[in-house]
Amino acid sequence: MTGDDNPILARLNQEILTCTLCRLSEGRTRAVPGEGPVPSRILLLGEAPGKREDELGRPFVGRAGSILEELLSSIGLSRREVYITSINKCRPPKNRDPKDDEIAACHPYLERQIDLLKPQVIVPMGRFAAREICRSFGLDEGKISDIHGKILHARAGFGAVIVLPVYHPAVVTHNPNLRPELTADFQQLKKALDRM
Ligand code: URA
Repeated sequence: MTGDDNPILARLNQEILTCTLCRLSEGRTRAVPGEGPVPSRILLLGEAPGKREDELGRPFVGRAGSILEELLSSIGLSRREVYITSINKCRPPKNRDPKDDEIAACHPYLERQIDLLKPQVIVPMGRFAAREICRSFGLDEGKISDIHGKILHARAGFGAVIVLPVYHPAVVTHNPNLRPELTADFQQLKKALDRM
């Protein structure tokens, strides 16, 4: 089943598409609720839509999306097998960092997505998503450079969940030296999945 076929997720997506809870709604072309199977074993979580995502209303379809698809392919997965969304569903102006009140306004949508998707593994990509998920599950927040690639154990309302923070795929566009670490982060995801 995909989000389009699931009536509860379809209703949630509709709320996101028409949301005006924060200032990011004023500058968006389209909100980007996310996409993937429902339920979903794996939930990948980015920071916020960029230009291309804002134009198309789909997550990770720009440069970061190509890198993400390569990383998934390196561990034998395709994007159709995972649910992809971001902590903020609307593009910040000029791709600036999301502000705390914008992340907080969007948080209930993420919580509802997690409850519906019941993922076994949540992969926050980048420092903002890692911070948000660690806070949400009562895990120690560390710097992304310290916690990336680490398998953390948490408990959701529906059962046990693994949290695996990774670097954001876009990091290699400004820091190509981090490519091996990003690739290793996804190998950790494979390892966690193989053990299930
Ligand atoms: N970067 C993100 O964090 N999310 C997207 O949807 C696209 C790029």
